[in-house]
Amino acid sequence: MMKNYHTAIVTGASHGIGPYIVRALAQEGMNLVLAARSICELEQVATAADMRATGVHVLTVPIDVTDREARNALVHTAERTFGSVDVLVNNAGGDLQREFHHYTTDDVEALIQLNLTGPIELTRLLLPGMLRRKQGHIVNISSMGGRVGFPYTEVYSAAKDGLIGFTRVLRADYQKSGVSSSVLILGPIGGAGIGARTMEEMNIHMSSMDKAFLSPPEAVARGVVKSIRRDKAEIVILPGPGRLLRALMDLFPGMGSMMGQMSAPVMKQVVDFREQQRAQGDTNAHQLAEQR
Ligand SMILES: NC(=O)c1ccc[n+]([C@@H]2O[C@H](COP(=O)([O-])OP(=O)(O)OC[C@H]3O[C@@H](n4cnc5c(N)ncnc54)[C@H](OP(=O)(O)O)[C@@H]3O)[C@@H](O)[C@H]2O)c1
Repeated sequence: MMKNYHTAIVTGASHGIGPYIVRALAQEGMNLVLAARSICELEQVATAADMRATGVHVLTVPIDVTDREARNALVHTAERTFGSVDVLVNNAGGDLQREFHHYTTDDVEALIQLNLTGPIELTRLLLPGMLRRKQGHIVNISSMGGRVGFPYTEVYSAAKDGLIGFTRVLRADYQKSGVSSSVLILGPIGGAGIGARTMEEMNIHMSSMDKAFLSPPEAVARGVVKSIRRDKAEIVILPGPGRLLRALMDLFPGMGSMMGQMSAPVMKQVVDFREQQRAQGDTNAHQLAEQR
């Protein structure tokens, strides 16, 4: 058991990096509340053999974290079921992979709700209980996208950078009251998650040089546990060469954008691919409507 913590909520627990975080916390003996929209995937994560072997209690709550009522319901259900929540891992997040000039107002609002408002609001809802018990830890999953200029990530970057700032002030304001906060800043993750899925869907093969900048999802899970155990303000998840690059980027801020632009050709393929998928989706929906 980590500290005196018994129960954690993990958002984005249905697929990608989330299930790795879930398993790592279960191995620490924590009861878990798994949240995401896909109930079938959540159930699969909850009932996997390695999870059952840990003996912890697991509750699945299908919710959209961009929905205000759903966030209230998640916190209420978790507190009613387990009595209290000690850890919140705000992992749900993502990007549209779309050029900014194609965004609608709804796109902007939804992306900020998912990556920033959702985590802030879930924290706000859980904080009073944590303060009453004088214990708790918020772990926010951010991205190097919040630090460097990866192409076509304007809104995602703004939200993830905002999440870093939110965590910094939250930690400073409440740490003395027993409630701490950490942010994990993820570089590209290989083997699971949105990046790996996009590469697979598009059949893009990475060079060995590119692969050297990937971290495994297990590194994120270990980072979450470490951030709570050792009460770290910030953990950067990047392999050796990446960490060196990050240090250089902090020294020379212009370098981040330059590095980001190196990935521009591949990112352009990705946004074009997604735009084609959206157009195809619109055509299919239109044809279905006409058939009715
Ligand atoms: N993979 C990377 O290379 C990378 C790099 C930097 C940062 N990150 C960050 O790491 C976190 C996890 O990313 P990932 O790569 O694992 O992404 P992913 O594979 O797309 O998984 C995202 C998770 O968030 C959930 N989710 C998405 N929208 C949601 C919504 N509206 N309400 C509730 N849940 C929602 C998804 O479940 P449902 O679809 O079932 O709702 C899923 O469980 C994100 O915050 C991401 O920004 C990832």
